[in-house]
Amino acid sequence: MFATLMALGPVYLSGLTFAMLAIFFATRRLVNDRRIYDAGGVRANVMATNPLFAIPFFVSSGWDQMNNRLDKFYANLFRRFGTPSQPNVVEISFFGGTRFIMTREPEHVKTVLTSKFSSYGKGQQFHDAWHPFLGDSIFTTDGKLWSDSRALIRPMFLKDRIRDLEIFDTWAARLINKLPASGETVDICDLFYRMTLDVTTDYLLGASVNSLEDPKNDFAKAFNEVQRIQMLITILSPLNGLIPKYRYNRGIRILEEFMNPYIEATLRISPEELEKMSKNDKEFTFLHNIARFTRDRTVIRDQIMAVLIAGRDTTAATLSWTVYELSNYPHIVRKLRNVILNTVGSSRMPTYEDLKNMPYLTHTINEALRLYPAVPYNVRAALEDTSLPGLPGQPEIIVFKGDVVVYSALSMQRRPDIYPPTSEKFPDPQVFCPERWDHWTPKPWTYVPFNGGPRICVGQNFAMTEMAFCLVRLLQKYERIEYRGDWSKQFHKAEVVGCPGQGVPVALYEAQYGEVV
Ligand code: HEM
Repeated sequence: MFATLMALGPVYLSGLTFAMLAIFFATRRLVNDRRIYDAGGVRANVMATNPLFAIPFFVSSGWDQMNNRLDKFYANLFRRFGTPSQPNVVEISFFGGTRFIMTREPEHVKTVLTSKFSSYGKGQQFHDAWHPFLGDSIFTTDGKLWSDSRALIRPMFLKDRIRDLEIFDTWAARLINKLPASGETVDICDLFYRMTLDVTTDYLLGASVNSLEDPKNDFAKAFNEVQRIQMLITILSPLNGLIPKYRYNRGIRILEEFMNPYIEATLRISPEELEKMSKNDKEFTFLHNIARFTRDRTVIRDQIMAVLIAGRDTTAATLSWTVYELSNYPHIVRKLRNVILNTVGSSRMPTYEDLKNMPYLTHTINEALRLYPAVPYNVRAALEDTSLPGLPGQPEIIVFKGDVVVYSALSMQRRPDIYPPTSEKFPDPQVFCPERWDHWTPKPWTYVPFNGGPRICVGQNFAMTEMAFCLVRLLQKYERIEYRGDWSKQFHKAEVVGCPGQGVPVALYEAQYGEVV
């Protein structure tokens, strides 16, 4: 048989192989089409069902991600492949098996996050891709493992725990200390990233990595590196074996080496002592709280790592985008500062209630999260055969167990058609305008920076409080923000979290009298 095949010669042999592969993929597609037909639904718009057509998409998504154009790549998919019955959803598969369904349809986001919550989850592939970094934590698991993690973590984010704002005050003060003299240029994005790393490690472990003081800190460098490679691993999922992992594994080791002594010290505290500390001790940390419920080092390490990744870059990026936008709108800065000074004056530390009683401050942050949701892309795998709803009057999209739904809050929240028509009260949705929130509430599931449903961000209140606090402290001291780069050349850099690709170079001008202007 082998000899007969060889006798055909290389040209015929290649042709034969190609023909067999073509038959294989065509048959696979027909079988799937039949299953979809039998289930009474349809596919999403097909981009590719075999490697010949799929590889160029995966390569160009990896390329665009490396060149910070993933947002344009994603939006283009719908422009090229969207149809009137399915304008915002497309699918691609590599070998005709697992399909990646990419969507920016609010009803699809609602379906995966809440209406069919148990049919969708992080899934095995996501778990395996992230496991070296985040283990079996809240971020990487489904079902009971996830709900146990959530129950473990949630108490530390209840309102009463967050009301104590001292930790935010300490680190906001150190950030302000690092700012240069009035009118001098600084990349405030870099400082926000350092501050939120310090806040989060302090909050989690009771000890900060002190990256505001030491920017070349090994931990900070390793944390950034691991996240960068993790994003590549996620995007190139079918090809991720090709990505070199040396720096990734080394980075994870550096993070663990920092955490381990704190974990060990906590485990030396007896359960009775921890119980006592939990009642009223100011030193009682997130780590202490986890150790009340588990003495398993790996469980503790995984949850700490998950909350660290969840809490650090998200808030830093949102603060950075907020200041980037503010620097373009002096009238918003003036109005916001007036609100702040009228509420807390020019030096008093704001209370939790102060922060919640400044709607314009909340609207400013909401508006930044509308244009720049910190988690721009997210995925859910189908844990069983299920579906996504079609547009009204259209059949549903059939999803098989193992298929992956990729949804983008960024792309969805930038869709002009999900907003009211532009008017005096509702300016162009591409423009940053906190005032629009005075008399507008987004339609359900069109605004999901913190996700929604049972897996909604557990740190939402912590994050909103931290960001509001930091903005108050900044605007108590500074009255003017001037952009010192080319504002229009800014771009969205999507790693796990989307941040301003050029940093945020600004000059801050100290208020002369600290009074209402
Ligand atoms: C602007 C700030 C933040 C934004 C926009 C944000 C957004 C999100 C989003 C979109 C998710 C869902 C991820 C997913 O299920 O795939 C999430 C989950 C989560 N966030 Fe946040 N987050 C922010 C800040 C924080 C902070 C400060 C913390 C903690 C200190 C935190 C802790 C978590 C945790 C633990 C989860 C996992 C929840 C679960 O799976 O049940 N987040 N966040």
